[in-house]
Amino acid sequence: MAAEPALSFAGLLRQLRTGARLTQEELAETAGVSPRSVSDLERGINRTARKDTALLLADALSLTGQVRVLFVAAARGRAPAADVLAAGGGSAGRGGSAAAATRTLPRDIGSFTGREAELSRLLAALSGAAEGGGLAGIYAIDGMAGVGKTTLAVHVAHRLAGSFPDGQFFVPLHAHTAGQQPVDPADALASLLLTAGVGAQHVPPDLEARAGRWRDQVAGKKVLLLLDDAAGHEQVRPLLPGTAGSLVLITSRRRLTALEDATVLSIDTLDPADAAALLSRLAGRPDLGPDADATAEIARLCGYLPLAIGMLGRQLKHHPARGGPEVAADLASARDRLAVMRAENLSVAAAFDLSYRDLTAHQQRLFRRLGLVPGPDIDAYATAALDETDVETARGRLDELYDHHLISEPAAGRYLLHDLLRQYSRALAAEDEPTDAGAAARLVNYYAHVAAAAGKHIATWPRPATALRRAPHPAPCRSWPPRTRRPPGWMPSGPTCTRPLVLPPRQCPAMPWRSPRRWADSCVPAVTGIGLRANTRRRSGRPAAPGTGPARPEPSMSWGCCSS
Ligand SMILES: Nc1ncnc2c1ncn2[C@@H]1O[C@H](COP(=O)(O)OP(=O)(O)O)[C@@H](O)[C@H]1O
Ligand SMILES: [Mg+2]
Repeated sequence: MAAEPALSFAGLLRQLRTGARLTQEELAETAGVSPRSVSDLERGINRTARKDTALLLADALSLTGQVRVLFVAAARGRAPAADVLAAGGGSAGRGGSAAAATRTLPRDIGSFTGREAELSRLLAALSGAAEGGGLAGIYAIDGMAGVGKTTLAVHVAHRLAGSFPDGQFFVPLHAHTAGQQPVDPADALASLLLTAGVGAQHVPPDLEARAGRWRDQVAGKKVLLLLDDAAGHEQVRPLLPGTAGSLVLITSRRRLTALEDATVLSIDTLDPADAAALLSRLAGRPDLGPDADATAEIARLCGYLPLAIGMLGRQLKHHPARGGPEVAADLASARDRLAVMRAENLSVAAAFDLSYRDLTAHQQRLFRRLGLVPGPDIDAYATAALDETDVETARGRLDELYDHHLISEPAAGRYLLHDLLRQYSRALAAEDEPTDAGAAARLVNYYAHVAAAAGKHIATWPRPATALRRAPHPAPCRSWPPRTRRPPGWMPSGPTCTRPLVLPPRQCPAMPWRSPRRWADSCVPAVTGIGLRANTRRRSGRPAAPGTGPARPEPSMSWGCCSS
């Protein structure tokens, strides 16, 4: 006979809480215990609870009779957690109603803002799935940390709930929850089966059998399954229903490209107007209306990222004495903008930490090095120089970061860090500086050669300085398209530098130029040459004719070198 799966008290509590549609904070508040107590119990940090805490939790979960007695015993380590569910017929804590047991979606937020395009796309596609026909509809919503994937999926699920009368299940998969490992699919299935009313004694012991039991449980039914924060396709696949009529919404920070039959919707940050509307709504202050300049500026400095906007919005609400323009100015001048973006024990940086933690050592190092890039974006050639590798490997690593939503690709082959991710990456790179001093120098050396090569195509271009001509040729230059030997990617728009890349003097010996002064003399004009070219093209709409001279250049690139 199959052994019964061991359900921990942590799993039981989580199960009962989600069944009661309460967040950890809401349960803590209802019970009158601290959120930390609930969190520690659910994470198994505390395996048992004191009797008074157990009684308060039982009350908050509306447990009665034998279920309540067993719950308190399980909390004290004196009864198996599974007995609680068995006694409640799988409906413990949900008032005993089978229908209530299958509606575990979290609350839809009242401040939901924007996302019209995504909503209409999802709702139009999903109403097809709701009418049945074909296999279960699977929609994967992916995007960077804090962009609003869960919020959107929950909102959509509530809008569609009426079309899925046999149940709406929310399954947190915890790929990015501090202090928690991603949920094992076998545990997720056990939890789903228990939530759906299967007695603990009928939950099979292994993954395959549980997946089969789950498919059987939902066969022919109309259920909506929201798999939140998936680590990857392997975690999700066993949870998918096998028959038509159901709908699966998945959220993930990874692009789930290997999941067959899934329609993917990648979501970006909010557009500026929606971001300002959200900030204004959360701040709830007359001086921060949706059209106020300060509102727009703060939303911009939050990178239009809902997570960051939420934190700033709540800060502004709770500190009415702080004027909007002052907060915007402080944010703009803050050395560490991410440090300001926090609320209670949550922060934007912590959300990014959990994405960074997913990366391999190679990927982490490249991500840190990308923080050194002075311009807005980078291609595989410059990345190869920065990461001291060949172009193909660089391209592969960039693609991996792209799959993790840590960089975007706004134009083919050009990769971009979101503003706040760049801040985060720079902070990490700053810690690395003593050990990774050569990376910035390699990038500058490469760009100087790009500039020199580009300069050959500009009639007004001065000859590159001797020092540059003698400098070692960076390896990625040898991979440039052979016909023209033009640096790739510079002709259509030219890179535009947003800040000076300042190399400390101790890195200058790593450069091909002897002294910082010499380096600056030879390199800066070369680099501004590219900016000049780009600006001239942009202003006239076509390339400047050779020999016509530089028309009031507005060099948009400038790199410097500390000379003191
Ligand atoms: N469209 C939106 N309208 C209002 N608030 C939003 C929206 N999207 C996200 N948020 C808020 O931003 C924060 C992060 O959203 P969340 O959905 O948890 O991000 P993700 O799942 O992508 O990490 C939450 O506090 C959420 O309430
Ligand atoms: Mg989420």
